[in-house]
Amino acid sequence: MTRTEIRPGLHYVGVNDRTKTLFEGLWPLPSGVSYNSYLLIDEQVALIDTVDACYTDTFLAKIAEILGERKVDYLIVNHMEPDHSASIAALRRAYPDVKIVGNAKTLPMIEGYYGITEGTVKVNEGDTLCIGKRTLVFYMIPMVHWPETMVTYSPEEQVVFSGDAFGTFGALDGGITDRELDTTRYWDEMYRYYANIVGKYGSPVQKALAKLSSLPVRTICSTHGPVWIDHTEKVIGLYDRMSRYDADPGVVIAYGSMYGNNARLAERIARELARKGVSQIVVYDLSRSHASYVLRDVFKYDTLIVGSPTYNGNLFPPVESLLRDLEHRCIPHRYFGCFGSFTWAGTAVRKLTEFVSAMGWELMGEPIEMKQGYTPEKGDACLPLVDAVAERLGKKS
Ligand code: FEO
Repeated sequence: MTRTEIRPGLHYVGVNDRTKTLFEGLWPLPSGVSYNSYLLIDEQVALIDTVDACYTDTFLAKIAEILGERKVDYLIVNHMEPDHSASIAALRRAYPDVKIVGNAKTLPMIEGYYGITEGTVKVNEGDTLCIGKRTLVFYMIPMVHWPETMVTYSPEEQVVFSGDAFGTFGALDGGITDRELDTTRYWDEMYRYYANIVGKYGSPVQKALAKLSSLPVRTICSTHGPVWIDHTEKVIGLYDRMSRYDADPGVVIAYGSMYGNNARLAERIARELARKGVSQIVVYDLSRSHASYVLRDVFKYDTLIVGSPTYNGNLFPPVESLLRDLEHRCIPHRYFGCFGSFTWAGTAVRKLTEFVSAMGWELMGEPIEMKQGYTPEKGDACLPLVDAVAERLGKKS
C-alpha cells in the first residue's frame, strides 16, 4: 500500500495540528490534535470531511499528490464545525465541479459559513451514493456533536466515517491506524476529549450507538485521533460507558485555596482516604490545573469532593467555574462531598450544598466548614466524610 493508504483505495489526507494552544479556544492540547479527512478512490472519488483553515494548503497538496490529474467528485460533509468544514470553499475553488453532500441541516450551514449554495446534494437518513464498487450510506446522528452531524458507512469495506464520535485529542505521531502506533496515551485523551467536547450529549450518543449497533464495523475513521482497526470494540465500549455517565470507583478532590488552608484540608482528606485503603484518588488545585483534566476525571470516577474558600461573598472563582462546567454536562449521578472556609461570613459551603442539591447527586458525610485557619483539630471534621466514602467504596472503616 502507498504511504497514505489505510486499505486499498482508502487514503488518509488529514493533518496534525501541533501549534494550536487551545482547542475551541478553551481546551489545552499538550500533545496536539489531528483533523482527519479521508479520500475514497473508486470509479468516482469521494472525500470525507476537510480540515481546519490553518492547514488548507497542506490538505489540498496532499489530495493533489494522490489524485494527480483526477478530480474530487464528491465531498461528504459529516460535520460542519469549522475544524472539519473550514476548507470547503478552498476545495470548491480547487475542484469547481465537486458536488457537496450534506443533509437538510448541513446545507444551510454551508451557505451561512461559506456562502455556497450551488452544486450541493441533499441526503436523508439511509440514502445511498454509489461511487463504483463502493456504496456510501448516510445515517443521521444529531448532536454528536452538532445538530447536522451524520456518519457515512461503506458496507463493502465495513468502514464507518464517524465524525467526532470515537475521536480523541492527540496528534498522530507517524502512525495513522492503531496498528501502527502505541495507543496507550490516547485513552486518557479520549476521556478528556469526550468529557469536554461531547460530554453534554450523552443521550444523543446513546441513540447514535443504538442506531449503528446493527452495522458490522471493521474500521472506524473518526475526525480526530487514530483510525481504529484493532480496538473498535474497546472504543465503542468506552463511548457507550462515557455516554451513560458510568464511572469507576474512585475519588476526585478539587479545591481552591488562597492561603493554603483549604489545600491542607484537601491533603488531609486525601491522606485519610488512602489510610482507609482507597488508592484511586486524584487531587487538583483548581488555581493551577485546567478544568478539562478535572472534567475528564469526573467522567472517569464516581466520587467528587470539592473545597472552596468564600470569596467576595461567593465561591472562589475557579471553583464556581468548575461547577458551571459540571452543570452544563448534565451528569446525572455522582457521589459528592464538600468543604470550605471563611474568615468573617461563610458562603462557599452553602453554595456547594446548593450545587449538589440542584444536580440531584448524593451528598456524602456532612459539609465541612472551617472558620479562618486550618488546624489538625478542625481537620478532624473530615473523618465522617472519609468514613462514608471509604465504606461506600468497600474499604475498611
Ligand atoms: Fe471536531 Fe465538533 O468538531
